[in-house]
Amino acid sequence: MLSGRTTLTKFAVEQLRGHPGQHDLVTLLSKVASAIKTIAAMVSKGALDGNLGSLGTENALGEIQKKLDVVSNEVMVSNCEWSGQLCGMASEEMVSPYAIPQQYPKGEYLLVFDPLDGSSNIDINMSVGTIFSILHNGSNETPAESNFLQAGTQQLAAGYALYGPATMLVLTLGQGTHCFTLDRDSGNFVLTHRNLKIPAQTSEFAINTSNARFWEPPVARYVKECKEGASGPLGRDFNMRWIASMVAEVHRILMRGGIFMYPRGGKDAAQPDRLRLLYEANPMAMLIEQAGGMATTGRQRILDIPPEQLHQRVPVILGSRDEVKRVIRYHTEHDTGIDRPFVSPLFQERSLFTQDC
Ligand code: AHG
Ligand code: MN
Ligand code: MN
Repeated sequence: MLSGRTTLTKFAVEQLRGHPGQHDLVTLLSKVASAIKTIAAMVSKGALDGNLGSLGTENALGEIQKKLDVVSNEVMVSNCEWSGQLCGMASEEMVSPYAIPQQYPKGEYLLVFDPLDGSSNIDINMSVGTIFSILHNGSNETPAESNFLQAGTQQLAAGYALYGPATMLVLTLGQGTHCFTLDRDSGNFVLTHRNLKIPAQTSEFAINTSNARFWEPPVARYVKECKEGASGPLGRDFNMRWIASMVAEVHRILMRGGIFMYPRGGKDAAQPDRLRLLYEANPMAMLIEQAGGMATTGRQRILDIPPEQLHQRVPVILGSRDEVKRVIRYHTEHDTGIDRPFVSPLFQERSLFTQDC
């Protein structure tokens, strides 16, 4: 049945041939894929195994953990800790880095992950995912938190699994973005979409508009123009989507284009940014760039951000090039003041015409 099909392992061996870490990286990817298959099986059971609902505990970011957040984290750790490629892991669900236990051999790599992304969807049987990123530690010494604080450009591999109608694994090793579909009969991830390319243009945007009152003016301007459609400055009608799972949004964009935004400005004033740099924004930015798209905060390329903290959050705007470039331009025009019509100081004092868009 597998003749003519390329499995994830075969693909990784071929792409990494000649890489000094080929053997370790292929083994590590196969451990991550095993964990993903286990999480897929658990998620697909729905309420049958009593795994739905909240635990009532909080993660490193003060968010209430779902049972499946914690179980998925344990599955990732237990699948990847023993085979000798890693010296540490970090996750959304662990406050501090996880050191590989004494009894296991250690390797030079670091695994960073969001074990269950979009977990607010889990109890309503909507799409969720797992996001991961592989970094080089340079030695097999137990890493400090600072070892994980590498810019996204340093990632050796990045990927996600989407637990949708089909379970898919999307991967980049720095040579394009490729998509594998889980064949539940053989248990293999089979290459089904090689070298994904995001169209530069799109008429589909994704943003949580319930946060609109907190957005910065450049994002408010762009979304307003999308909604004005053919009668506004963009000159064409747009569609809007919001799945509340970044994995599902990014997957749609990789398949048919679009722009996804989780910009600065949320309902929690103490945490103006939503998505986490190391295990959400960076791996997704690498996948998007490798497919010809762009990923930015609006003011900086995501992959160039020097991380300062393990659970650091950043604004995220990613997807089809032309639209992401437009949003970057709106930020520049706002920051330099050229999007603002001339207003006499007299009027400004009276608070008239001071809106930016
Ligand atoms: P997580 O479930 O890992 O905490 O991540 C959820 C993230 C992301 O996937 C999604 O884009 C966003 O949160 C959804 O946010 P809203 O609740 O504002 O829709
Ligand atoms: Mn997430
Ligand atoms: Mn999560």
